[in-house]
This record gives sequence, structure tokens and C-alpha cells, in this order.
Amino acid sequence: MNDAPAASGFRIQFQPMEEGGVIVTGETVLDCARRMRVRLASSCGGHGTCMSCAIQVVDGVIPEPTQADADAFSQRRLDQGWRRACLVEAAGDFTVLIPARSTAAPVRTQVDGQAAEVDLDPAVKDYVIELAPPSMEDMEGDDGRIFHALAKLDDAPLLASAGDMDIGILRILAPALRDWKWRARISVFGGEVIAAGPPGSHALGMAVDLGTTNVSAVLVDLVSGESLAS
Ligand code: FES
Repeated sequence: MNDAPAASGFRIQFQPMEEGGVIVTGETVLDCARRMRVRLASSCGGHGTCMSCAIQVVDGVIPEPTQADADAFSQRRLDQGWRRACLVEAAGDFTVLIPARSTAAPVRTQVDGQAAEVDLDPAVKDYVIELAPPSMEDMEGDDGRIFHALAKLDDAPLLASAGDMDIGILRILAPALRDWKWRARISVFGGEVIAAGPPGSHALGMAVDLGTTNVSAVLVDLVSGESLAS
């Protein structure tokens, strides 16, 4: 395919698609590729703010890098002919390799949405508890202390049995409780203790919207309901 306008310029060859033609003086490689209908990614629309249009000049005259490319690529990559197609113009006849990732359709993220007031009612409930340290008179295990402390709370979670604690917590529980001076934030889900942390720490949850073409996720503080990141 070659529908280059009748204007002065240099010969350009696109690899691996074996397309070639004339790149017009003052035209960028990206503009030339678009004119020739050669597939080349341009996530930022050709404004030089992404790297999706990276190409490599593999034969012929390698154009001098723009300052922006000199800042974006390592010296080794620059010496190998790497440039951004939206910034580079021809300095002579040349062959350009378009790597596979520069032909891929851009992946976009969508994190905008409408915020609405909702009553915070997470499935994971957090409780801050204070435990009595073990003594010669009270040698109950650390997990039992937690269950008994939870049972005393007004809004006590329904724990199915004293064995309902994630094995990952049991592994760190003994040193952690002593580090935390016998105070802890305990997270309960479905009658099982699934997390523990020092008092003052917050349980975080992630709200995920899985659409047919978009995926978005928001990190939420499960105590305050505040959106922390998206
Ligand atoms: S299209 Fe984004 S940097 Fe070239």
C-alpha cells in the first residue's frame, strides 16, 4: 500500500508489515504510518506523553533523537535506533521496525464514576479489643482470649466455633499480640476471624466494577467509607 502525496521526502519502509512509501518532509513517522494505514499505537494521540508508539530504526539513516526521546530512552536504546514515532521525522531513507507492543490496541482504564452517599455496611466487620495478658492463674491460649473478648461485645459477631480463625493469623498471633500490648483490631467475616492488626490500623476493602469493556476498582477504608485510591 502506498498512497503518498506527490511531495519531496525520503523512502520509508515499515517492518514487519512490508509496507513502504515516501515520508513527506516535516511529517512524523506516526503521521506517515496513519496516512499509509500502517497500524501503530498512539495512546496519547501523538502528543509525546506516552511510549506506546515506540519504534526502532533498523536500517538506513537514523534520525537524531529529540530532547524528549533523549530523556525517555537509555543511551543504549537510542544508539539502537529507538525513537517515538510521533516525535521523529526522517533524516534520510530508512527502515522502521514496529514492535508487536506498538501495534497493540491501547488498554484504557476508567476510574471516574458518580459518588453517592451510602450506608456503610461492609461484610467484613472490625472490632477493637483489649485482652488481659496470660498469667499463672489464666493460661488460656491467645486465640481463646480473642474469642472471649469478642463474645463480650454488645454487637458480638457470631463465631461458629473457637477454631474459626485464619491459619495465617494463628501463625503470627503470639508475637503480634505482645507487640501490640494486648490490644488488637480484629476483622470478622462470616463467623470467621480473617485478619488482625494493631489498634489504629484500618481494614481496607476494594470495590470492583467488572464490565464488558472496562474494569475499575476503588480502594475503600471500611471504617470511614473514604475512597483512598482508584
Ligand atoms: S503517541 Fe504517545 S508518545 Fe507517541
